Amino acid sequence: MPTERKSIHGQWSNRFAFILAATGSAVGLGNIWKFPYIAGENGGGAFVLVYLLCIAVIGIPIMMAEVLIGRRGRQSPINTMRTLAYEENASRHWHLLGWAGVVGGFLILSYYSVIAGWALAYVFRAGSGLFTGLTADGVQSIFSNLVDEPERLLAWHTIFMVMTMIIVARGVRSGLERAVRLLMPLLFVLLLLLVGYAWNSGAFHQGLDFLFQPDFSELTANGVLIAMGHAFFTLSLGMGAIMVYGSYLPDNASIAKTSIAVSLMDTLVALLAGMAIFPIVFANGLEPGAGPGLIFQTLPIAFGHMDGGAFFGMLFFVLLVFAAWTSAISLIEPAVAWMVENLGMTRIFASVTAGFTTWLVGLLTVFSFNIWSDLKPLAMIPVFAESTIFDLLDYLTANIMLPLGGLLIAVFAAWQMKRESSVDELAMGDGFFYRSWRILVRYITPVAVVIVFLNAIGII
Ligand code: PFF
Repeated sequence: MPTERKSIHGQWSNRFAFILAATGSAVGLGNIWKFPYIAGENGGGAFVLVYLLCIAVIGIPIMMAEVLIGRRGRQSPINTMRTLAYEENASRHWHLLGWAGVVGGFLILSYYSVIAGWALAYVFRAGSGLFTGLTADGVQSIFSNLVDEPERLLAWHTIFMVMTMIIVARGVRSGLERAVRLLMPLLFVLLLLLVGYAWNSGAFHQGLDFLFQPDFSELTANGVLIAMGHAFFTLSLGMGAIMVYGSYLPDNASIAKTSIAVSLMDTLVALLAGMAIFPIVFANGLEPGAGPGLIFQTLPIAFGHMDGGAFFGMLFFVLLVFAAWTSAISLIEPAVAWMVENLGMTRIFASVTAGFTTWLVGLLTVFSFNIWSDLKPLAMIPVFAESTIFDLLDYLTANIMLPLGGLLIAVFAAWQMKRESSVDELAMGDGFFYRSWRILVRYITPVAVVIVFLNAIGII
């Protein structure tokens, strides 16, 4: 029996709407911008294999745990954790996990929005035909022109944050549900088109080999941590985004099936992005390890040389902006839901407050690509010798906060909640599937996360 609780923020119209929203949260810059560039920096195949393994063994079970907790609590993650900790006789400190998620969400969105701003800027650059016929060098200089200018980055960052605030202010069932329904499939089709272009680039095999042929000598302990961190990042796990979306999930929807569907779609999009990008990288003699600018320095070459490239390029970046947008709203929804519940704010006021705070923190990232690009605050630590503020923010959130948050979510769902509660909420009986899930979240995921952490800091 599910609890009788109802969310004061509303509910998705049905299970399909939840899948769309959760997929909207999961599929974003993480898949198309981040996955290719970190796979490129960490040597390709072996990294991709570890990432896929993490999705299957850690990501899917934790997503189920997060949705299950969210739906049972039906409030913002902070209040959900407080209520469930009380009901399950666990320590009241568990609500701090909700707080960690709120802080993580602000930090991630602060740089996420700056990168989404690049995508926005590229909508206009592509649409005006700027890329037509350009070589790799030309495309690179367009990218440098953008990121070297703090004012430009600031303007795009501001526009993207305003877009995010508007949607969050409108609430759970705004036009977004409808927009995602149309845009996600379109993004998929466009990625297929790009893979088709990459197929003919002359380096398709080289690209695929890079992505799928594991060479373990290329993989470092830090690389394994980055792969695991990315599994959390790409599935939006470990900070309450999926938990808060789960709190709007209708009672009769299957948590297992929806979580698996979302994870599969997310993974597919990332792999397609990789398959589109790496052949273009190799065909044009570019560096797979070029860093955060990778897709902005490769895909325009493809658009610049295909028929109708200005149109397709513009469409692609529009869709990328939408993918980022649907993720961004899930990053501040936990904070906004909490402000509405506890501070009595209206949704509009809460969204503006959260959005403005994030915008301010985002300035750190804006400047770390230009006026502060030489600032390496943790240069005394060897792994961070080259890391800018943006790199550090990304590392702290994706590789430390999210896995740690995910670990604690697993511990709560599997060790603190009574067995009956999870059997009840997952509603898939007490047979093989439930037991496998429970073994995974009880033992396998926590141990795996801890081992990867210890390995990365050199203890094992
Ligand atoms: N999953 C999003 C992406 O891959 O772009 C990013 C993200 C959204 C991370 C929400 C974390 C989160 F809570």
